[in-house]
Amino acid sequence: MKTVDLRSDTISRPTADMRQAMAAAVVGDDVFGEDPTINALQERIAELTGKEAALFVTSGTQGNQVSLNAHTRPGQEVICNSDCHIFNYESGAAAMLSGVQLNALPGTNGVITLEQIRLNLRPADDHYPQTGLICLENTHNRAGGTIYPLEEIRRISAWAREQGISLHLDGARLWNASVATGISIAEYAAYFDSVSLCFSKGLGAPVGSVVAGPRDFIARCHFYRKAYGGGIRQGGILAAAALYALDHHVARLAEDHARAKRLAAGLAAIPGLRVDLNTVQTNILIFEVEESVCGAAEMVGRLGEEGILCFDFGPQRIRMVFYLEIGDEDVDYTLEKTALVMARLKGGKR
Ligand SMILES: Cc1ncc(COP(=O)(O)O)c(C=O)c1O
Repeated sequence: MKTVDLRSDTISRPTADMRQAMAAAVVGDDVFGEDPTINALQERIAELTGKEAALFVTSGTQGNQVSLNAHTRPGQEVICNSDCHIFNYESGAAAMLSGVQLNALPGTNGVITLEQIRLNLRPADDHYPQTGLICLENTHNRAGGTIYPLEEIRRISAWAREQGISLHLDGARLWNASVATGISIAEYAAYFDSVSLCFSKGLGAPVGSVVAGPRDFIARCHFYRKAYGGGIRQGGILAAAALYALDHHVARLAEDHARAKRLAAGLAAIPGLRVDLNTVQTNILIFEVEESVCGAAEMVGRLGEEGILCFDFGPQRIRMVFYLEIGDEDVDYTLEKTALVMARLKGGKR
């Protein structure tokens, strides 16, 4: 049976050409700072983001967590969105590794506003934790790949600078935001003190993320990366995959976005499914199955029996994610099988 795996863009596997680039990588010991391919990648990312320096890290989680630790002191508070990755999917690492607490604010489509953040700034009083950092996520995973409006980022950034509070961007999928809007990575990054970016999502590398920021901040990240076990010696093999992805897999993200939109429009036409087409902005599609039909977990199970793999994302919500291994025929197949599953569910048949 054909399988269409839409569970995540992290599923993507290195292509044959990417593997060749990895095999040919010139390497050295990166813990000594001597891996030429990692050094080249870090320089390229520093330039791309307009930051002084960059650091290759093993994962998006490690990039966020070294950043949190480098920006804060134990006991401080970090403002973020209650749907964000740092709050939900990083194993409680902010408390465990940096000793900070998260003040997770409810957002709309992954966006928290300046007004919300302002209200949550802690007064300078010994009773309160001190606000040490603000984190935003762009694109926003749990909100369905939504793009943070640049104007809101600008307002938050200007205010945070006035207050002397650092701003970190979880940009695991900032590439998608940049391709979808035409706003450069450097422009987005300019509003933040630090930014983390992933190569192992839509860009298709097997491993690897990067953090960019001021030189002294990156030096502190380097310390925490070592402490977290992230010194990876001849990691140039991995950096070569990231460099290959930068050269070959960024512009093509537009194809993933188009496929997500096409599937969303198709699903919206199936009675019993609800899709907010406005939220389908990049490579993630979230839709709902109506309560009268079934729950999301059951729907995911039924789709799985037809070879369509995806995740339930709430009692009625289902998430599908696009990446370089998903083609137009997979969109057609998913539509056909989803319509079939819905017809059976509504007809009361298995
Ligand atoms: C927005 C966001 N940030 C960070 C991460 C963490 O990346 P990793 O799985 O490489 O740790 C993810 C993973 O999907 C993510 O979606």
